[in-house]
Amino acid sequence: MTFVRVCGLGELEEDTPKRVELDGTPVSVVRTEGEVFAINDICSHANVSLSEGEVDDCHIECWLHGSRFDLRSGKPDALPATRPVPVYPVKIEGDDVLVSLTQES
Ligand code: FES
Repeated sequence: MTFVRVCGLGELEEDTPKRVELDGTPVSVVRTEGEVFAINDICSHANVSLSEGEVDDCHIECWLHGSRFDLRSGKPDALPATRPVPVYPVKIEGDDVLVSLTQES
């Protein structure tokens, strides 16, 4: 599994998603509830950036139609989205946030 640095921990504001690109894949990096998560930045319902949505209770909400995706599993908990969004393993090394594009689920 190859981890790549995507940003510094200090660049992540609590509950404010940060969009990064990893090998051409858009990824939303989210610091919340004492952890850092990485989820594909494209909603599974339409081609919309999830990093423009809000974070609450370990979920990220799509701003267009309101589906909420669990940051741990990528699964939606509300329609209209029915398919999960890929989530990726995260490692913290010092102040570095590293992500691997290998999917966890
Ligand atoms: S585009 Fe995300 S829920 Fe419709």
